[in-house]
Amino acid sequence: MIVVGGSTSRDLAKDIASIIGCKYIEAATVRFPDGECYTRIEEETLDDDVAIVQNTYPDENLVEMFLIQDAVRRAGAKSVTLVIPYFGYARQDRVFKNGEPESAKVMCELLSRVCDHVITVDIHKEAVLEAFKRPYKDVKAANAMGDYFKDKDIDMVFSPDIGAAGRAKMVGERMGVPYDHLEKKRLSGTEVVIQPAKSDVKGKGVLIVDDMISTGGTIMTATTQLKAAGARKVTVACTHGVYVNNALERLKASDIDDLLSCNTLISETSRISVAGMIADAIKERC
Ligand code: R5P
Repeated sequence: MIVVGGSTSRDLAKDIASIIGCKYIEAATVRFPDGECYTRIEEETLDDDVAIVQNTYPDENLVEMFLIQDAVRRAGAKSVTLVIPYFGYARQDRVFKNGEPESAKVMCELLSRVCDHVITVDIHKEAVLEAFKRPYKDVKAANAMGDYFKDKDIDMVFSPDIGAAGRAKMVGERMGVPYDHLEKKRLSGTEVVIQPAKSDVKGKGVLIVDDMISTGGTIMTATTQLKAAGARKVTVACTHGVYVNNALERLKASDIDDLLSCNTLISETSRISVAGMIADAIKERC
């Protein structure tokens, strides 16, 4: 096995290779003056199973993934596993209004041109991966989160909505603490309302878990509700810290006591590693 790190995920790819105990190669990716991508695998031949670790967000990184796929295949890769820690377009998983594309499906179909297996992490809706028509595995970060928070003064785990209730359950069970979900209603791309928590959170250290934080609207509203209900401390953990616009600054200035994310997207909050879980998934697939 050889692990190739694209420009979005070099440290993660190195960690994965070190856990597997295999060779790591960095894709030598640069941008031409006009912004176009140039990449190169600086090895005579690969002649092994290859796992490429690279996010497909934002769009320029998707292009880099296409080019690395072609380069590794040309260099003789026996099989190609795409490891996509953060899969762009995953939330555009259906046609919401007439005339729209099915964006997530388009991305899967294009990416499946050169690949044998696909590994993602907490993709928004796992069913999207069926469009790859290849064996796939969506790694769940809940166990990594549960392990991280085991001795960190957390009394209860919440998800901000019922859709993510399964994640709160997995994290809570891993930590051996109770879990619940809040009721969220989305009003627009940036506005949500959340009903008061039904569980008693007075004086408790609460952890809210979600798959991603984009504008931060969901998490900030959930935190406000839990603090209003008497929570002593609110810690937030997401798998993907997307943090659009100035979301990270607003989150840091909010009532949230501690904010963490996994290392699928790199920022000052990415303190929870999913490298071990991805390494296990690679070993199982190949
Ligand atoms: C929604 O279904 C997702 O799980 C997240 O809760 C949502 O995408 C977060 O977005 P934002 O940070 O913009 O509220």
